[in-house]
Amino acid sequence: MSHLSVNHLLGIKYLNKNDIELILSTAKNFKEVINRPIKKVPSLRDITVANLFFENSTRTKLSFELAQKRLSADVINFSASGSSVKKGETLVDTVNNILAMKVDMIVMRHASPGAAVFLSKKVNSRIINAGDGAHEHPTQALLDAFSIHEKLGTVKGKKIVIVGDILHSRVALSNIFCLQKLGASVKVCGPTTLIPKYITSLGVEVEPDLRKALEWCDVANMLRIQLERQDIKYFPSLREYSMLYGLNKEILDGLSKKIVVMHPGPINRGVEITSDVADSKQSIILDQVENGVAVRMAVMFLLAGRQA
Ligand code: CP
Repeated sequence: MSHLSVNHLLGIKYLNKNDIELILSTAKNFKEVINRPIKKVPSLRDITVANLFFENSTRTKLSFELAQKRLSADVINFSASGSSVKKGETLVDTVNNILAMKVDMIVMRHASPGAAVFLSKKVNSRIINAGDGAHEHPTQALLDAFSIHEKLGTVKGKKIVIVGDILHSRVALSNIFCLQKLGASVKVCGPTTLIPKYITSLGVEVEPDLRKALEWCDVANMLRIQLERQDIKYFPSLREYSMLYGLNKEILDGLSKKIVVMHPGPINRGVEITSDVADSKQSIILDQVENGVAVRMAVMFLLAGRQA
């Protein structure tokens, strides 16, 4: 099979295992391309993509833009600040006006969960969800799976613990769907107040003790505390959080095996992860960022109907 079962990338929930494997194998080819002296291919030369960022981003925004340029697509960038959204224009009107300029594909980050699904039902364009509130961040999960596969040779059968603010994390939800579809086991670890009640219904076990969780896993994905999405205090202080759930070198070196450490970024050094862990040989944080470009190239290439 060399085409996706979906017209949009709205969430990992909507992909099947074949879709995920097709994206990852296509990304492997694109990773080889972007490591050549000439990093550009003409695959999307006739396609125009609009990047709509209604919420802040460094990695995702730049990674999509670079992926589009590597594929020779035409690119326009939109951020809500400085736009007519500030004058009261709706999301659908904004996007339909952009599409009227003959844009073929929309990449959107939005603070509202479900914004990408909503848009896909209202406008006539391919939609890629670049993160919608605390819901899904599908390309992050795909690049995380790609990075685990690259580091460990497979995702199937591996044990991954996701640590931290699971309640407000779109990365956690997309990772859970993606890793399980690829045959991995997933546990979550964090303060009880930051673990959603429904999580066990997804087939995910909760391990409240960080050291036990780390002893169990092959890979630890350390998440940022999403203070911007927290309406109340979920734990007494960041200092207390980091004492109980922060990963430091002493804990890492005290484990009975060498685990792989991941983080989607942005990192709060000294809170969820210390600098000596983030910058250690066991960390693949910058590999994740590098792989993001190849994975996003694959997603756009396949959604544009190009054959892998
Ligand atoms: N990982 C991630 O989504 O980072 P940005 O918020 O900087 O895009």
